[in-house]
Amino acid sequence: VEPGPSTGSGGVPMRNRTQDRGDLSELARATEFENTADTDPSLAANRSWGRRILSLVGPNNGIGIDTIDAARVTDPAALDGIIQSVRAAGARWGTQTGTERGAVLRRAALALEANRDRLIEVMATETGKTIAEGDPEVSEAIDFANYYAARAAELDRVDGAVFVPSALTVVTPPWNFPVAIPAGSVLSALAAGSGVIIKPAPQARRSAAVLVEALWESGIPRDLLALVDIDEGDLSRQLIAHESVDRVILTGAYETAKLFRSWRRDLSLLAETSGKNAIVVTPAADLDLAVADIVKSAFGHAGQKCSAASLVILVGSVARSERFHRQLVDAVSSLRVGYASDPLTEMGPLIEPAEGKLLDGLTTLGPGEKWLVEPVRRSSDGRLWTPGVREGVLESSPFHTTEYFGPVLGIMHASTLEQAVELQNGTDYGLTAGLHSLDAAEIEQWLATVEAGNLYVNRGITGAVVQRQPFGGWKRSAVGAGAKAGGPNYLVHLGSWRTEEGQP
Ligand code: ALA
Repeated sequence: VEPGPSTGSGGVPMRNRTQDRGDLSELARATEFENTADTDPSLAANRSWGRRILSLVGPNNGIGIDTIDAARVTDPAALDGIIQSVRAAGARWGTQTGTERGAVLRRAALALEANRDRLIEVMATETGKTIAEGDPEVSEAIDFANYYAARAAELDRVDGAVFVPSALTVVTPPWNFPVAIPAGSVLSALAAGSGVIIKPAPQARRSAAVLVEALWESGIPRDLLALVDIDEGDLSRQLIAHESVDRVILTGAYETAKLFRSWRRDLSLLAETSGKNAIVVTPAADLDLAVADIVKSAFGHAGQKCSAASLVILVGSVARSERFHRQLVDAVSSLRVGYASDPLTEMGPLIEPAEGKLLDGLTTLGPGEKWLVEPVRRSSDGRLWTPGVREGVLESSPFHTTEYFGPVLGIMHASTLEQAVELQNGTDYGLTAGLHSLDAAEIEQWLATVEAGNLYVNRGITGAVVQRQPFGGWKRSAVGAGAKAGGPNYLVHLGSWRTEEGQP
């Protein structure tokens, strides 16, 4: 079936899945940055394409296995050899101009697009990510490539200062965005002229392998970008603490960032860490929109996003609104839970069986709390859970301040917007935050007082878009320079600056 021309909801032309490579190379020559469109599921051809991908999802599909097996390192001397060889390749790469490096990144963007299906398939196989979550993630990876390509060229023309690339960056990504986050970190470091070693999250090794294969296929040399699959423990410490490593880009738990920091006495760690994120809903909100955004932000990827909403703070009459509660309960209860291989699944499994803290979050109520929707375990492996909503979360209670990383949402009440913001700010973290209100004065007040890296008004709080919403946190949601991924100032943190003679 040849899909006909189509436009997306915002009038944005959607990619035609059978578009030939000629059109794509036009994109490679573009100098301006433009966000890539996600696959349009309203086209019948794209739906068949999606079903074909999902029919291949399964633990034995073999995708990425050869590459990840080859990347296994168990010996300190072998790891040291890789470190020295990538460092040498990085030093050579750093002598190219940012414009030259950018051209390589634009080819990487094309390779990622050409591998969209394999990337979605491996994410679904390995981490249970649905196609609706995996497809935009590939778009984000493509955006990082094109965006950092444009920013790399700018590094060549800073008045009075010369950008000096680092030779070696280590990237340690999380499993929850197994393509977009490693792609963003790797491509930023390459754009900034560094060699890169990527150490995948153990739960998402094969996704990292397919990503790296695509990048190698695009022409990024294998000695410049190395994949090393090592266990946590001594080898990890050797890699992170190594004196030949100039910088580490980590996305993961705050505790991991603290550990890395203790291993690296210098300040060359850039980390985006945990979150405990809330959406405030005032009586001036469009409640229908608020419910839709809350559900998406809380239960997308089963709540396993650092950016996810795990709290909603209802102001004044919204706390008593029967309509709001009914709509929220209906929307949450109707989410279809299943495995990613089923095209009808709306909420997929947990990465691992719920235990410890997360199991508490799914089963144990705190003082004053009651279930509006009680989570239920739906599979014997402990990974499938129906989503939960608890109401009456009290200030400073465990659910107010602890990140659970699963499909459970807590509701808090506040008398005023000011009090709601105090609750919203009342955690150690500051990653994302949302407000639903159509009142300009409320929006202004909220923007001036909320403490988080990414603020969203009348929108869900996950799914930051490259360039439009540079992503990064405050407080314990970031360690290091606090640079924002996908934003204009990210690359400048990935090297050093030499001032030209005569300049201050
Ligand atoms: N960048 C991811 C998001 O915004 C974490 O959801």
